Amino acid sequence: MKGILFVEFVDFLENKLGEDHTQELIDDANLDSGGAYSRVGQYDYQEMIQLLTMAASKSGEQADELLKEYAEHIFRVFNRDYSDFFKEINSGVEMLKTVDDHIHVEVRKLYPDAELPKFTYQEDSQQLLLHYRSPRPLAAIAEALLKACLKHFGSTEKLIVSDIAEDQKSARFVISKN
Ligand code: HEM
Repeated sequence: MKGILFVEFVDFLENKLGEDHTQELIDDANLDSGGAYSRVGQYDYQEMIQLLTMAASKSGEQADELLKEYAEHIFRVFNRDYSDFFKEINSGVEMLKTVDDHIHVEVRKLYPDAELPKFTYQEDSQQLLLHYRSPRPLAAIAEALLKACLKHFGSTEKLIVSDIAEDQKSARFVISKN
């Protein structure tokens, strides 16, 4: 997994828990990488899951609440650093439809070693049905990013079904358009 997601997670934790507590957390986690992340480096995604779980127990918040706040943070970073992807996009559903065949394609050009999931979709005038598949068990991150994306555009679109496989490697999401 690319370092950008880790660097931003550590920034997010520093804002939330303070620098000292965040450093303690990284020390306690005994991570293979030692917790020295660079934006362009490559890390085991297990470290992300480990940091998230430990941060949740330290902050007293549920891991999914923490993941939600982190996803909103990373979405603001995407909007700041990759603003081109937001141009001419007027809704969350429009953006979600471009993740697989545009956004992540460009991400791969920037970082050829990026590990990206596969999204496919079907839609009618009422709903978007989005399918997530990955060799990595990151469906909870996909769900959190999807919600942050809908929230970012602040429209009436809503996630109404979230059907995550037990192994977390695939999921089916239904988003109502109005
Ligand atoms: C401007 C928008 C976006 C940018 C710049 C972006 C970029 C990235 C980057 C750099 C990674 C890390 C790749 C790696 O770890 O090697 C990633 C992974 C991921 N992205 Fe995006 N992304 C965007 C939007 C979205 C949205 C809207 C979703 C929503 C559903 C999404 C879902 C994911 C997931 C689930 C992963 C984790 C990898 C996996 O599941 O296997 N991304 N993205």
